[in-house]
Amino acid sequence: MATIKFPLYFFILSAFIISSTLCISKNSLNPTNYDTLSNELVNQVCKNTSNFQFCQETIYADPQAPEADRYVLAYITFRKAYQNATSTSKHIVALIKNMTNNMGHEKIIQLGSLKECNGYYNEALKVLGQALNDLNSDTFDGLGDYAVSAGNNARKCEPLLKDDEILSKKNQDLIKLSEICNVVSKLYDSDYGSLI
Ligand SMILES: *[C@@H]1O[C@H](CO)[C@@H](O)[C@H](O)[C@H]1NC(C)=O
Ligand SMILES: *[C@@H]1O[C@H](CO)[C@@H](O)[C@H](O)[C@H]1NC(C)=O
Ligand SMILES: *[C@@H]1O[C@H](CO)[C@@H](O)[C@H](O)[C@H]1NC(C)=O
Repeated sequence: MATIKFPLYFFILSAFIISSTLCISKNSLNPTNYDTLSNELVNQVCKNTSNFQFCQETIYADPQAPEADRYVLAYITFRKAYQNATSTSKHIVALIKNMTNNMGHEKIIQLGSLKECNGYYNEALKVLGQALNDLNSDTFDGLGDYAVSAGNNARKCEPLLKDDEILSKKNQDLIKLSEICNVVSKLYDSDYGSLI
């Protein structure tokens, strides 16, 4: 009897210990606590951006982030900026189409402003696509310029979008993402290379 009871008790105890441990590690994945995910490189990069929390949320949303070196980090951030710009660009094109067809509801901003902004997004997409191509071929020296250019194109859109809060928020995301890309690009500056 005792030989059966003891292992069973032990089994229940260990199951309890294991499940409470799992519970704790699940809690520490809470989006406001990145301690357990901490990647010192991500920490350093995000400290050099104007919005630390946005930077961490964006980067750690990618499952590769905790293990990322500067190369993977460049991929994560430029890919995210590219996807973001693609999705906002589609939204702008849909708005233009709707206005042209007089569909949808009330006109919030002028068609001309949207068209101009669409041009800036095409530019941003071009340079971000180029950055991803360069990363594919291990070319790093243009990354900073592409990031700055993407951010500047989004910045030129901002005054055109000021009456459309939703679109303006999407556009500000691209500005912030470009800033992160720019900081990551600096990890490829020659004087930084020896530190990684
Ligand atoms: C952060 O900025 C400081 C000061 O400009 C610089 O020395 C450091 O290399 C930067 N670190 C990263 C990871 O960008
Ligand atoms: C852009 O990225 C931000 C930060 O990751 C995210 O919150 C937002 O939903 C994205 N927007 C679009 C339009 O993809
Ligand atoms: C465009 O109009 C259609 C039909 O009214 C609507 O379903 C869609 O959400 C609108 N798109 C945008 C981006 O407002």
